[in-house]
Amino acid sequence: MPGDVSAEGNPVIKDTLASRSFSVGPVEVSPALLLAPMSGVTGRAFRRMIKTENPEAVGLVVTEFISVEGLTRGNAKSLRMMEYSEIEHPVSVQIFGYDIDRMIEGARIAEEAGAHIVDINCGCPAPKVVKRGGGCELMRQPDHLGKILSAVVKAVSVPVTMKMRSGWDNQTRNAVEIAHIAEDCGVGMITVHARTRSELYRGQPDWQIVADVVDAVSIPVVGSGDIVDKDSADQALQSGVSGLMIGRGAMMNPWIFRELISGQSPEKTVTQVAGVLRSYLQLLADEVPEKAYLGKMKQFVSQVTRLIDGAGPVRKELCRTTSLSEFLRIVAEWEERA
Ligand SMILES: Cc1cc2nc3c(=O)[nH]c(=O)nc-3n(C[C@H](O)[C@H](O)[C@H](O)COP(=O)(O)O)c2cc1C
Repeated sequence: MPGDVSAEGNPVIKDTLASRSFSVGPVEVSPALLLAPMSGVTGRAFRRMIKTENPEAVGLVVTEFISVEGLTRGNAKSLRMMEYSEIEHPVSVQIFGYDIDRMIEGARIAEEAGAHIVDINCGCPAPKVVKRGGGCELMRQPDHLGKILSAVVKAVSVPVTMKMRSGWDNQTRNAVEIAHIAEDCGVGMITVHARTRSELYRGQPDWQIVADVVDAVSIPVVGSGDIVDKDSADQALQSGVSGLMIGRGAMMNPWIFRELISGQSPEKTVTQVAGVLRSYLQLLADEVPEKAYLGKMKQFVSQVTRLIDGAGPVRKELCRTTSLSEFLRIVAEWEERA
Protein backbone atom coordinates (compact mmCIF):
# COMPACT_ATOMS: atom_id res chain seq x y z
CA MET A 1 0.00 0.00 0.00
CA PRO A 2 1.48 3.39 -0.89
CA GLY A 3 2.63 5.22 2.18
CA ASP A 4 2.85 2.09 4.34
CA VAL A 5 6.41 1.42 5.39
CA SER A 6 7.93 -1.00 7.82
CA ALA A 7 10.29 -0.05 10.66
CA GLU A 8 13.20 -0.77 8.28
CA GLY A 9 11.78 1.65 5.73
CA ASN A 10 10.67 -1.01 3.23
CA PRO A 11 7.20 -0.83 1.68
CA VAL A 12 4.72 -3.11 3.42
CA ILE A 13 2.92 -5.31 0.91
CA LYS A 14 -0.44 -6.20 2.39
CA ASP A 15 -1.69 -9.60 1.26
CA THR A 16 -5.23 -8.60 0.45
CA LEU A 17 -7.81 -10.93 -1.04
CA ALA A 18 -7.78 -8.73 -4.15
CA SER A 19 -4.11 -9.50 -4.74
CA ARG A 20 -4.28 -13.16 -3.78
CA SER A 21 -4.44 -15.78 -6.52
CA PHE A 22 -3.17 -19.27 -7.19
CA SER A 23 -2.85 -21.70 -10.06
CA VAL A 24 -4.21 -25.18 -10.60
CA GLY A 25 -2.18 -26.40 -13.56
CA PRO A 26 -2.92 -23.92 -16.36
CA VAL A 27 -5.99 -22.51 -14.60
CA GLU A 28 -5.43 -19.29 -12.69
CA VAL A 29 -7.82 -18.82 -9.79
CA SER A 30 -7.78 -15.05 -9.49
CA PRO A 31 -8.87 -13.73 -7.12
CA ALA A 32 -8.69 -16.67 -4.73
CA LEU A 33 -12.42 -16.64 -3.99
CA LEU A 34 -14.50 -19.58 -5.20
CA LEU A 35 -18.23 -20.11 -5.48
CA ALA A 36 -19.01 -23.43 -3.77
CA PRO A 37 -20.89 -26.24 -5.47
CA MET A 38 -24.41 -26.41 -4.02
CA SER A 39 -26.74 -29.02 -5.36
CA GLY A 40 -30.10 -27.53 -6.30
CA VAL A 41 -28.69 -24.00 -6.09
CA THR A 42 -25.54 -23.34 -8.11
CA GLY A 43 -26.93 -24.12 -11.54
CA ARG A 44 -25.95 -22.00 -14.49
CA ALA A 45 -28.36 -19.17 -13.65
CA PHE A 46 -27.07 -18.81 -10.08
CA ARG A 47 -23.45 -18.93 -11.21
CA ARG A 48 -24.10 -16.31 -13.90
CA MET A 49 -25.91 -14.09 -11.43
CA ILE A 50 -23.04 -14.28 -8.95
CA LYS A 51 -20.41 -13.60 -11.63
CA THR A 52 -22.42 -10.62 -12.93
CA GLU A 53 -22.97 -9.10 -9.49
CA ASN A 54 -19.30 -9.55 -8.51
CA PRO A 55 -17.23 -8.43 -11.50
CA GLU A 56 -13.62 -9.61 -11.25
CA ALA A 57 -14.26 -10.95 -7.75
CA VAL A 58 -14.95 -14.66 -8.28
CA GLY A 59 -11.93 -16.71 -9.31
CA LEU A 60 -13.65 -20.05 -9.90
CA VAL A 61 -17.19 -21.41 -9.99
CA VAL A 62 -18.06 -25.06 -9.44
CA THR A 63 -21.12 -26.81 -10.84
CA GLU A 64 -23.56 -28.74 -8.68
CA PHE A 65 -22.36 -32.30 -8.19
CA ILE A 66 -23.18 -34.52 -11.15
CA SER A 67 -23.63 -38.27 -10.92
CA VAL A 68 -21.27 -40.27 -13.14
CA GLU A 69 -23.97 -42.94 -13.25
CA GLY A 70 -26.28 -40.44 -14.94
CA LEU A 71 -23.54 -38.89 -17.09
CA THR A 72 -22.24 -42.17 -18.45
CA ARG A 73 -25.76 -43.38 -19.27
CA GLY A 74 -26.44 -40.26 -21.31
CA ASN A 75 -28.94 -38.81 -18.82
CA ALA A 76 -30.03 -35.52 -20.40
CA LYS A 77 -30.31 -33.65 -17.08
CA SER A 78 -26.78 -34.67 -16.03
CA LEU A 79 -25.40 -33.56 -19.38
CA ARG A 80 -27.24 -30.21 -19.16
CA MET A 81 -25.76 -29.61 -15.71
CA MET A 82 -22.32 -29.29 -17.31
CA GLU A 83 -23.33 -26.42 -19.59
CA TYR A 84 -21.98 -23.00 -18.79
CA SER A 85 -21.72 -19.52 -20.29
CA GLU A 86 -18.68 -17.49 -21.26
CA ILE A 87 -19.01 -15.16 -18.24
CA GLU A 88 -18.48 -18.09 -15.85
CA HIS A 89 -14.94 -18.94 -16.95
CA PRO A 90 -13.09 -20.74 -15.46
CA VAL A 91 -15.52 -23.51 -14.53
CA SER A 92 -14.93 -26.61 -12.47
CA VAL A 93 -17.32 -29.51 -13.11
CA GLN A 94 -17.85 -31.64 -10.02
CA ILE A 95 -18.64 -35.33 -10.45
CA PHE A 96 -19.50 -37.99 -7.91
CA GLY A 97 -19.64 -41.76 -7.90
CA TYR A 98 -17.80 -44.90 -6.82
CA ASP A 99 -17.10 -47.09 -9.83
CA ILE A 100 -13.63 -46.39 -11.23
CA ASP A 101 -14.52 -46.91 -14.91
CA ARG A 102 -17.57 -44.69 -14.64
CA MET A 103 -15.54 -42.01 -12.84
CA ILE A 104 -13.02 -42.11 -15.70
CA GLU A 105 -15.73 -41.90 -18.32
CA GLY A 106 -17.62 -39.20 -16.42
CA ALA A 107 -14.45 -37.10 -16.15
CA ARG A 108 -13.80 -37.52 -19.89
CA ILE A 109 -17.34 -36.41 -20.68
CA ALA A 110 -16.85 -33.36 -18.45
CA GLU A 111 -13.58 -32.53 -20.18
CA GLU A 112 -15.18 -32.87 -23.62
CA ALA A 113 -17.99 -30.58 -22.46
CA GLY A 114 -15.37 -27.91 -21.75
CA ALA A 115 -14.66 -28.25 -18.02
CA HIS A 116 -11.52 -26.30 -17.13
CA ILE A 117 -11.17 -28.45 -14.01
CA VAL A 118 -12.77 -31.76 -12.98
CA ASP A 119 -13.53 -31.93 -9.26
CA ILE A 120 -14.19 -35.18 -7.42
CA ASN A 121 -16.80 -35.01 -4.66
CA CYS A 122 -15.58 -36.71 -1.47
CA GLY A 123 -17.67 -34.70 0.95
CA CYS A 124 -21.35 -35.23 0.24
CA PRO A 125 -23.02 -36.54 3.42
CA ALA A 126 -26.39 -37.53 1.84
CA PRO A 127 -27.36 -41.13 2.70
CA LYS A 128 -28.42 -41.90 -0.88
CA VAL A 129 -24.91 -40.92 -2.09
CA VAL A 130 -22.76 -42.49 0.65
CA LYS A 131 -24.73 -45.76 0.61
CA ARG A 132 -23.61 -46.22 -2.99
CA GLY A 133 -20.01 -45.55 -2.04
CA GLY A 134 -19.80 -41.96 -3.27
CA GLY A 135 -19.31 -38.57 -1.59
CA CYS A 136 -17.85 -38.69 1.91
CA GLU A 137 -17.88 -42.50 1.95
CA LEU A 138 -14.75 -42.28 -0.22
CA MET A 139 -12.91 -40.81 2.78
CA ARG A 140 -13.57 -44.14 4.53
CA GLN A 141 -12.09 -46.06 1.63
CA PRO A 142 -8.72 -44.39 1.08
CA ASP A 143 -7.31 -47.19 -1.11
CA HIS A 144 -10.28 -47.12 -3.43
CA LEU A 145 -10.25 -43.32 -3.46
CA GLY A 146 -6.57 -43.40 -4.43
CA LYS A 147 -7.41 -45.67 -7.37
CA ILE A 148 -10.18 -43.34 -8.54
CA LEU A 149 -8.00 -40.25 -8.24
CA SER A 150 -5.00 -41.63 -10.09
CA ALA A 151 -7.18 -43.17 -12.80
CA VAL A 152 -9.06 -39.92 -13.37
CA VAL A 153 -5.86 -37.83 -13.32
CA LYS A 154 -4.44 -40.11 -16.05
CA ALA A 155 -7.66 -40.08 -18.07
CA VAL A 156 -8.05 -36.34 -18.62
CA SER A 157 -5.70 -33.54 -19.55
CA VAL A 158 -7.40 -30.84 -17.46
CA PRO A 159 -6.49 -30.54 -13.77
CA VAL A 160 -8.29 -32.84 -11.36
CA THR A 161 -9.18 -31.53 -7.91
CA MET A 162 -11.09 -32.95 -4.97
CA LYS A 163 -13.39 -31.63 -2.25
CA MET A 164 -13.71 -33.39 1.07
CA ARG A 165 -14.75 -32.90 4.67
CA SER A 166 -12.51 -32.93 7.74
CA GLY A 167 -13.40 -36.61 8.17
CA TRP A 168 -16.28 -39.02 8.56
CA ASP A 169 -16.91 -38.40 12.26
CA ASN A 170 -15.11 -37.27 15.38
CA GLN A 171 -13.22 -40.58 15.60
CA THR A 172 -12.15 -40.47 11.96
CA ARG A 173 -10.85 -37.03 11.18
CA ASN A 174 -8.55 -38.21 8.41
CA ALA A 175 -8.42 -35.20 6.09
CA VAL A 176 -4.61 -35.09 6.37
CA GLU A 177 -4.23 -38.74 5.35
CA ILE A 178 -6.61 -38.23 2.41
CA ALA A 179 -4.78 -35.05 1.39
CA HIS A 180 -1.47 -36.97 1.15
CA ILE A 181 -3.14 -39.60 -1.02
CA ALA A 182 -4.68 -36.94 -3.25
CA GLU A 183 -1.38 -35.12 -3.72
CA ASP A 184 0.45 -38.37 -4.50
CA CYS A 185 -2.19 -39.19 -7.12
CA GLY A 186 -1.58 -35.90 -8.94
CA VAL A 187 -4.59 -33.95 -7.70
CA GLY A 188 -4.07 -30.22 -8.28
CA MET A 189 -6.11 -28.64 -5.50
CA ILE A 190 -7.93 -29.78 -2.38
CA THR A 191 -10.96 -28.11 -0.86
CA VAL A 192 -11.79 -28.91 2.73
CA HIS A 193 -15.23 -28.27 4.19
CA ALA A 194 -14.09 -27.98 7.79
CA ARG A 195 -16.70 -30.32 9.26
CA THR A 196 -17.09 -34.06 9.51
CA ARG A 197 -19.82 -36.00 7.75
CA SER A 198 -21.58 -36.54 11.10
CA GLU A 199 -21.66 -32.83 11.76
CA LEU A 200 -23.43 -32.18 8.45
CA TYR A 201 -23.74 -28.37 8.60
CA ARG A 202 -23.88 -28.02 12.40
CA GLY A 203 -21.27 -26.72 14.84
CA GLN A 204 -18.24 -24.56 14.22
CA PRO A 205 -15.90 -25.27 11.28
CA ASP A 206 -12.61 -26.79 12.47
CA TRP A 207 -10.01 -24.51 10.92
CA GLN A 208 -7.19 -26.29 12.77
CA ILE A 209 -7.61 -29.42 10.67
CA VAL A 210 -7.60 -27.26 7.55
CA ALA A 211 -4.31 -25.74 8.76
CA ASP A 212 -2.96 -29.29 9.25
CA VAL A 213 -3.90 -30.14 5.65
CA VAL A 214 -2.20 -26.96 4.43
CA ASP A 215 0.98 -28.00 6.29
CA ALA A 216 0.82 -31.55 4.96
CA VAL A 217 0.73 -30.85 1.21
CA SER A 218 2.28 -28.49 -1.25
CA ILE A 219 -0.72 -28.12 -3.58
CA PRO A 220 -3.26 -25.33 -3.06
CA VAL A 221 -5.78 -25.94 -0.28
CA VAL A 222 -9.08 -24.09 -0.24
CA GLY A 223 -11.17 -23.65 2.90
CA SER A 224 -14.95 -23.95 3.06
CA GLY A 225 -17.39 -23.48 5.90
CA ASP A 226 -19.46 -20.55 7.17
CA ILE A 227 -17.53 -17.83 5.35
CA VAL A 228 -20.11 -15.08 5.31
CA ASP A 229 -18.25 -11.81 5.94
CA LYS A 230 -14.85 -10.22 6.50
CA ASP A 231 -14.40 -11.61 10.01
CA SER A 232 -15.17 -15.19 9.05
CA ALA A 233 -12.99 -14.82 5.94
CA ASP A 234 -10.10 -13.54 8.08
CA GLN A 235 -10.51 -16.45 10.47
CA ALA A 236 -10.44 -18.95 7.61
CA LEU A 237 -7.37 -17.29 6.06
CA GLN A 238 -5.46 -17.78 9.30
CA SER A 239 -5.41 -21.51 8.53
CA GLY A 240 -3.00 -20.68 5.71
CA VAL A 241 -5.32 -21.69 2.86
CA SER A 242 -4.66 -20.49 -0.67
CA GLY A 243 -8.29 -19.63 -1.27
CA LEU A 244 -11.74 -19.34 0.24
CA MET A 245 -14.88 -21.04 -0.99
CA ILE A 246 -18.27 -19.50 -0.30
CA GLY A 247 -21.58 -21.31 -0.52
CA ARG A 248 -24.54 -20.32 1.61
CA GLY A 249 -23.01 -16.88 2.19
CA ALA A 250 -23.61 -16.15 -1.49
CA MET A 251 -27.32 -16.90 -1.13
CA MET A 252 -27.54 -14.66 1.92
CA ASN A 253 -25.52 -11.88 0.29
CA PRO A 254 -24.96 -12.20 -3.47
CA TRP A 255 -22.42 -9.34 -3.33
CA ILE A 256 -20.18 -11.02 -0.76
CA PHE A 257 -17.32 -11.66 -3.19
CA ARG A 258 -16.93 -8.05 -4.26
CA GLU A 259 -17.33 -6.92 -0.66
CA LEU A 260 -14.51 -9.19 0.50
CA ILE A 261 -12.34 -7.84 -2.29
CA SER A 262 -13.11 -4.18 -1.58
CA GLY A 263 -13.22 -4.59 2.19
CA GLN A 264 -16.48 -2.64 2.24
CA SER A 265 -19.92 -3.90 3.03
CA PRO A 266 -22.45 -1.11 2.43
CA GLU A 267 -26.03 -1.37 3.69
CA LYS A 268 -28.31 -2.89 1.05
CA THR A 269 -31.36 -1.14 -0.34
CA VAL A 270 -34.71 -2.60 -1.39
CA THR A 271 -33.94 -1.42 -4.95
CA GLN A 272 -30.72 -3.46 -4.97
CA VAL A 273 -32.39 -6.59 -3.64
CA ALA A 274 -35.36 -6.19 -5.99
CA GLY A 275 -32.90 -5.77 -8.85
CA VAL A 276 -30.97 -8.93 -8.08
CA LEU A 277 -34.23 -10.87 -7.71
CA ARG A 278 -35.34 -9.70 -11.14
CA SER A 279 -31.96 -10.54 -12.71
CA TYR A 280 -31.91 -14.03 -11.22
CA LEU A 281 -35.49 -14.62 -12.28
CA GLN A 282 -34.64 -13.61 -15.84
CA LEU A 283 -31.63 -15.92 -15.92
CA LEU A 284 -33.68 -18.81 -14.55
CA ALA A 285 -36.52 -18.11 -16.98
CA ASP A 286 -34.06 -18.46 -19.85
CA GLU A 287 -33.06 -21.92 -18.63
CA VAL A 288 -35.75 -23.80 -16.79
CA PRO A 289 -39.56 -24.19 -16.93
CA GLU A 290 -41.63 -21.80 -14.78
CA LYS A 291 -42.67 -24.51 -12.33
CA ALA A 292 -39.05 -25.34 -11.50
CA TYR A 293 -37.68 -21.84 -11.35
CA LEU A 294 -40.29 -20.45 -8.97
CA GLY A 295 -39.02 -22.98 -6.41
CA LYS A 296 -35.46 -21.80 -6.93
CA MET A 297 -36.53 -18.16 -6.67
CA LYS A 298 -38.22 -18.85 -3.36
CA GLN A 299 -35.07 -20.55 -2.07
CA PHE A 300 -33.09 -17.38 -2.92
CA VAL A 301 -35.80 -14.99 -1.67
CA SER A 302 -35.88 -16.70 1.71
CA GLN A 303 -32.22 -15.80 2.19
CA VAL A 304 -31.50 -12.58 0.33
CA THR A 305 -34.47 -10.59 1.68
CA ARG A 306 -32.90 -10.94 5.14
CA LEU A 307 -30.50 -8.20 4.05
CA ILE A 308 -33.39 -5.75 4.47
CA ASP A 309 -34.85 -4.96 7.88
CA GLY A 310 -38.60 -5.50 8.05
CA ALA A 311 -38.77 -7.60 4.88
CA GLY A 312 -40.49 -10.49 6.69
CA PRO A 313 -44.01 -9.88 5.29
CA VAL A 314 -42.83 -9.45 1.69
CA ARG A 315 -40.64 -12.55 2.02
CA LYS A 316 -43.68 -14.58 3.06
CA GLU A 317 -45.75 -13.15 0.21
CA LEU A 318 -43.06 -13.90 -2.36
CA CYS A 319 -42.66 -17.44 -1.05
CA ARG A 320 -46.37 -18.06 -1.68
CA THR A 321 -46.46 -16.85 -5.30
CA THR A 322 -47.62 -19.22 -8.00
CA SER A 323 -46.61 -17.32 -11.13
CA LEU A 324 -43.89 -15.15 -12.57
CA SER A 325 -46.24 -12.18 -13.09
CA GLU A 326 -47.41 -12.29 -9.47
CA PHE A 327 -43.80 -12.49 -8.28
CA LEU A 328 -42.78 -9.46 -10.33
CA ARG A 329 -45.83 -7.48 -9.20
CA ILE A 330 -45.01 -8.06 -5.51
CA VAL A 331 -41.36 -7.09 -6.06
CA ALA A 332 -42.41 -3.87 -7.87
CA GLU A 333 -44.88 -2.94 -5.11
CA TRP A 334 -42.21 -3.55 -2.47
CA GLU A 335 -39.86 -1.24 -4.31
CA GLU A 336 -42.53 1.47 -4.62
CA ARG A 337 -43.27 1.35 -0.91
CA ALA A 338 -39.60 1.59 0.09
C1 LIG B 1 -27.81 -26.84 -0.41
C2 LIG B 1 -26.37 -27.29 -0.43
C3 LIG B 1 -25.92 -28.12 -1.44
C4 LIG B 1 -24.58 -28.55 -1.47
N1 LIG B 1 -24.16 -29.31 -2.54
C5 LIG B 1 -22.85 -29.63 -2.64
C6 LIG B 1 -22.36 -30.31 -3.79
O1 LIG B 1 -23.09 -30.61 -4.75
N2 LIG B 1 -21.03 -30.64 -3.81
C7 LIG B 1 -20.18 -30.32 -2.79
O2 LIG B 1 -18.99 -30.63 -2.85
N3 LIG B 1 -20.61 -29.65 -1.70
C8 LIG B 1 -21.91 -29.29 -1.62
N4 LIG B 1 -22.34 -28.56 -0.54
C9 LIG B 1 -21.36 -28.11 0.46
C10 LIG B 1 -20.85 -26.71 0.12
O3 LIG B 1 -20.11 -26.70 -1.08
C11 LIG B 1 -19.96 -26.13 1.24
O4 LIG B 1 -18.80 -26.90 1.37
C12 LIG B 1 -20.70 -26.10 2.59
O5 LIG B 1 -22.02 -25.63 2.44
C13 LIG B 1 -19.97 -25.20 3.60
O6 LIG B 1 -19.78 -23.93 3.07
P1 LIG B 1 -20.78 -22.67 3.33
O7 LIG B 1 -20.93 -22.51 4.81
O8 LIG B 1 -20.07 -21.52 2.66
O9 LIG B 1 -22.10 -22.98 2.68
C14 LIG B 1 -23.68 -28.15 -0.47
C15 LIG B 1 -24.14 -27.33 0.56
C16 LIG B 1 -25.45 -26.89 0.59
C17 LIG B 1 -25.90 -25.98 1.70
